[in-house]
Amino acid sequence: TAIRYTEAHRPQFHFSPPDHWMNDPNGMVYHEGEYHLFYQHYPDSTVWGPMHWGHAVSEDLVHWENLPIALYPDSLGYIFSGSAVVDHNNSSGLGEDGQPPLVAIFTYHDPVGESAGREDYQSQAIAYSNDRGRTWTKYAGNPVIPNEQPIRDFRDPKVLWDTEREQWLMALAAQDRIMFWRSDNLIDWAFLSDFGQQVGGHGGVWECPDLFPLPVRGSGETKWVLLVSINPGGPNGGSATQYFVGDFDGTTFTMDPTFSPDVQNGEGVWIDYGRDNYAGVTFANIPDADGRRIFIGWMSNWLYGQEVPTTEWRSAMTLPRTLELHRLTPGYRVFSTPVRELDALRDATTPIQSGTTALPATAEGTYEVDVRFLTTEASTEPFGIELENGLGETYRVGYDPAAGQFFSDRQDSGDTGFSEAFADRITQAPRLATSDTVRLHAFFDVASAELFADGGATVITDIFFPSEPFRRVRLFYGDGTEVLGGETYALEGIWPEA
Ligand code: FRU
Repeated sequence: TAIRYTEAHRPQFHFSPPDHWMNDPNGMVYHEGEYHLFYQHYPDSTVWGPMHWGHAVSEDLVHWENLPIALYPDSLGYIFSGSAVVDHNNSSGLGEDGQPPLVAIFTYHDPVGESAGREDYQSQAIAYSNDRGRTWTKYAGNPVIPNEQPIRDFRDPKVLWDTEREQWLMALAAQDRIMFWRSDNLIDWAFLSDFGQQVGGHGGVWECPDLFPLPVRGSGETKWVLLVSINPGGPNGGSATQYFVGDFDGTTFTMDPTFSPDVQNGEGVWIDYGRDNYAGVTFANIPDADGRRIFIGWMSNWLYGQEVPTTEWRSAMTLPRTLELHRLTPGYRVFSTPVRELDALRDATTPIQSGTTALPATAEGTYEVDVRFLTTEASTEPFGIELENGLGETYRVGYDPAAGQFFSDRQDSGDTGFSEAFADRITQAPRLATSDTVRLHAFFDVASAELFADGGATVITDIFFPSEPFRRVRLFYGDGTEVLGGETYALEGIWPEA
């Protein structure tokens, strides 16, 4: 399965499907030295259709090997989003030869029920594997959670092992709230509670939740984070992922009263302010010795994801990111930083000297730029990193001190005309840090930019489609702002040459 992709706009160091349609990451789990990435996949077209789970594995979160499709639709329906766990104690009884099985927990979406006007067309089901995820068997007693109420949007189960109470927990999206369920064996589930009807962004349907404990940096405290994707209603339009920080007592999620006053007024706090990070969740079963909470999202947006100008395949995943919780003045905030394994992609390294503007470029437009700017009272002009190609198309990402906002500007980045929702947009994101030094750490990969500003306090992920690769990179800044220094790296691709 060694492939070197050569199509226009194909990312070189991000995961993208070998062909056809992809949306949400699913079933992310670490098991016996492999990170499994499943994904919403329609193998017959480059637009959404009957959903399967595509599959890839990686030993380092960076280089991926494509595997055959793991789950196919059947008479119960399409295979919608969900999660996977290692059932260490074989609580489900689905393991063989004393080995813990991998258990996938997903939503069945029954298109026949839907078109017949039924409301119970989504239900939760499981499948298991006893050969390191290579083949999967659907459980004979599916669904394990039928849709009894019924609720029309009833999907995307994310299961975790609650070490404190020794129980399986499930976070499940139910239209405008997240439901929590518990189980001893991954088969029999009991409803616990729900959360969210009164708080956070409600501009669209709630989808793809994730619930996990996260230590607060620099303290002995641990809080629980609840991720909730919402479509539409994102801060810069379309689909996006908000989160809540609080406590989980085994039954109920209670938001921390100091988390954010805004969420009481129907606003969200967002994991990423860009337009192209959706339905992201975290890996299960990362060893305690590692201890990271690792996140991957779908690097697109339901507003235009099915129209982007690629032909063989559609869309890529975000870079894997480590989530950390910090206690700031406005409350607890989740920071995202690129996983350290990405350092292995660094090829040529060039220090950025103070006063530099032109940075070294690569043939395909694959760069990592990590630069610090010093601002003063006199800094009023936007500053940042600009990509340009021979046709004069540009993409800019940076900070606007006058507005107090980070921004990503893809208005003149090439092909923007395929969707009205894509063109003419500047993404904006608030700054949380108060230091005079603004750090822009960004990854550019042919058709995407990921900005991790101020050590991951503010993140912007945006895609773009230049007519030819961006082979020039430069820093721009006005009077009163200085380049303190940093590094530029040329990055290698992840797919072996065919
Ligand atoms: C999110 C989502 C999920 C659903 C899946 C279907 O992007 O709408 O709620 O399970 O995509 O492909």
